[in-house]
Amino acid sequence: MIIAQITDLHAGRHVETPAGTLDTFAALERAVDHLNALEPAPDIVVATGDLSHDTGPADYLRLKAALAELDMPLFVIPGNHDDRANLLAAFADDGYLPAGGGFLHYVVEGYPLRLIALDTTIPGAEAGELCAERLAWLEARLAEAPDQPTVVFMHHPPFETGIPFFDRIGCRGGAEMGEIVQRHPRIEAVLCGHVHRAIALRWHGTVVQVTPATGYQYPLQLLDAEGIAAVLEPPACRVCLWRPEVGLVSHLSYIDAR
Ligand SMILES: [Fe+2]
Repeated sequence: MIIAQITDLHAGRHVETPAGTLDTFAALERAVDHLNALEPAPDIVVATGDLSHDTGPADYLRLKAALAELDMPLFVIPGNHDDRANLLAAFADDGYLPAGGGFLHYVVEGYPLRLIALDTTIPGAEAGELCAERLAWLEARLAEAPDQPTVVFMHHPPFETGIPFFDRIGCRGGAEMGEIVQRHPRIEAVLCGHVHRAIALRWHGTVVQVTPATGYQYPLQLLDAEGIAAVLEPPACRVCLWRPEVGLVSHLSYIDAR
């Protein structure tokens, strides 16, 4: 089984960034073409939040139409930049997002890997959170199939990255999630976004991977500073190859590479 991950699309035609005005919608379209050209094709694609730059209903419908060009099933979760209700309205027809206005977390069954999608967002805030309700939901889902290899995906990394700018808008409840993860050794990986660059950590018996954005990247800014500038590092997606006898091998695939 192959899982591809894209993240932090921030899709828009005129997105102001410290690197200038970018057409991140075109970057998303290149990412879709890239994923469709991969051989062998991924079985599924997950998009781990910060999906649309503008967050009105029509913006999410345009995003949905661009992502509908993917040849494989897509599963999305919100990031801090997303509007949960408008995202849900656009993607509800796909059938996997819970209706009702609560957290957009869910389980994907029917593949060799079981996928658990977490919603770490707090409406109106840049930071994320796994509150007691969400932690209990995660623990209950893991308890349903403790022996099945599982991948968790979420927008905010559940650990401190060492980049102070992002750690200030990190994920509350990450330590408590770690205690749950420690009790479930079949979690093959936790896939995240939010930081717009590649990061990896051995964490509570699993591996956490942060994936670069499809739009624009942020620098390795380990010193504390007021803001953070975008950098023109290449966009990438993650391609995870699952073979039971080997495990989950995680590759970066650069989108504009020729
Ligand atoms: Fe984010």
